[in-house]
Amino acid sequence: MADQAPYPATLAADAAQVTELAAIASHAGVGRGDEKAADQLAVDAMRTALNRLDIDGKIVIGEGERDEAPMLYIGEKVGTGKGPAIDIALDPLEGTTLTAKAMANALCVLAMSPGGGMLHAPDTYMDKIAIGPGYKPGLVDLDMSPQDNVRALAGAKGVSPDEITVCVMDRPRHAELIAALREVGAKVMLITDGDVAGVIHTAEPETGIDLYLGSGGAPEGVLAAAALKCVGGHFQGRLIFRNDDERARAEKTGVSDFGRKYDLHELVSKDAIFAATGVTKGAMLDEVRIVGGFVTTHTLVMDSSTRTVRRIRTTRPV
Ligand code: FBP
Repeated sequence: MADQAPYPATLAADAAQVTELAAIASHAGVGRGDEKAADQLAVDAMRTALNRLDIDGKIVIGEGERDEAPMLYIGEKVGTGKGPAIDIALDPLEGTTLTAKAMANALCVLAMSPGGGMLHAPDTYMDKIAIGPGYKPGLVDLDMSPQDNVRALAGAKGVSPDEITVCVMDRPRHAELIAALREVGAKVMLITDGDVAGVIHTAEPETGIDLYLGSGGAPEGVLAAAALKCVGGHFQGRLIFRNDDERARAEKTGVSDFGRKYDLHELVSKDAIFAATGVTKGAMLDEVRIVGGFVTTHTLVMDSSTRTVRRIRTTRPV
């Protein structure tokens, strides 16, 4: 256990409270067919909850830049300003479509780290690879072929490639990747949205997912890296730029090497707290439930400084 946590011991509970309140608010948007409205409910609740915390908080990954996001924009200060300097990465509603369509695995997510502890990822795509804890660093690598990554992981696990399950987002851009994985014999579990959960599943043996591969949002990549850091998993990410505008956005966040491959500890360089509350039922977390005047939430909160993983069920009056 770390001698001295880099933030107050209560911060993990505070983070959980923030994602719980966001999940309760966005519950009203489940199945309503309006992604933006559901997201707004989560954003408003998360901002209100963050502003009650005794931290000198700064959003480093948020809803976008100030001119396009009225709330929780990158650079926005949150908290009472009285406590420690904390950088915050958040995705108030990870899975807006999942929520609007009442599909599984929508989450409210945030990560907190002492100032300067997380890459200020631009709002671009990122190529991602992840496995759970217990493997030597570099076992799998973004620069290896999908087939070689599956073979390497299968070798380390002492199984054959056809016993490896790989989680991939179901997108046309992943057609070649999926074909390569099937060619080596791996099982491919396709998800429609929500790659933060997809990455975390590699560290949860009960999900059966061994490897995560493919591209998704860069902000979600940093959030997922924070989660894996808490449990000793492995993650690499490389930003993808589709045009000059995206390169310009990246430059504004301080990125200068456009081809750089980031290791987990470069994406999240200091200790971090990760919190996620389920909005709809998922493999990792249960949904928000309202019964008999009480609302119950299910939250995962992890702290890399203590390597603690908590699953919390909280009940409060509606
Ligand atoms: P939203 O909740 O913002 O809709 O994002 C969901 C998500 O599935 C992320 O988990 C993922 O990183 C990203 O979208 C992938 O983007 P795209 O849908 O463009 O492939």
